Amino acid sequence: MKTVPLDKSRHDRKRFDCGIKALNVYLQMMANQQSARDNTRTFILEDKHNPQWIIGYYTLTMTTIDLGSLPLKLQKKHRLATSGGLIARLAVDKRYQGRGFGEWLFVDALIRLLDASNSVAFPLIVVDAKDGALAFYKKFGFLTFFDEENKLFMTMDSVRKSFGEK
Ligand SMILES: CC(C)(COP(=O)(O)OP(=O)(O)OC[C@H]1O[C@@H](n2cnc3c(N)ncnc32)[C@H](O)[C@@H]1OP(=O)(O)O)[C@@H](O)C(=O)NCCC(=O)NCCS
Repeated sequence: MKTVPLDKSRHDRKRFDCGIKALNVYLQMMANQQSARDNTRTFILEDKHNPQWIIGYYTLTMTTIDLGSLPLKLQKKHRLATSGGLIARLAVDKRYQGRGFGEWLFVDALIRLLDASNSVAFPLIVVDAKDGALAFYKKFGFLTFFDEENKLFMTMDSVRKSFGEK
């Protein structure tokens, strides 16, 4: 399996339904435009039998990090850092949920960000756990910021270790 950049002439965005309207609308109306403007990038996992059908997607960009909402040790370590990689959205179509695709997409997003951080260093990966997906991300060891319940982070160092690097 591999993800590919969203291609509006190939992918049937209208068919996509993850059960959360805001995430459907983002894919259908915003994702392509935001990528064309270099604001975000959206990657698609296609159904191999019907590649125009979308199993799931995630959207990546950068975010500012508020050092004050991190544990003291990390505040000190990263005091000169300002940005983190952000998994802004991640969703799986209802017809494919519960079959491991969400987890696979999440790991794929981490690998992509890890790869990016090897060229343009940033110390954290942040996820926006919209609409009750907190537990999904906590399962993978992501931690909540002190002041933002629905935002979670993992240090690049921990991500690397979770892939058996370093
Ligand atoms: C959340 C979502 C991405 C999970 O995708 P999925 O393909 O159904 O999940 P998977 O089959 O890969 O599940 C992997 C594991 O996560 C668990 N899981 C799935 N959804 C979960 C949720 N919302 N909360 C907690 N755990 C969840 C599964 O039980 C499974 O655990 P296990 O390995 O112990 O059995 C998907 O349900 C979805 O798109 N939901 C709507 C949109 C959304 O909430 N997006 C995330 C926030 S932006």
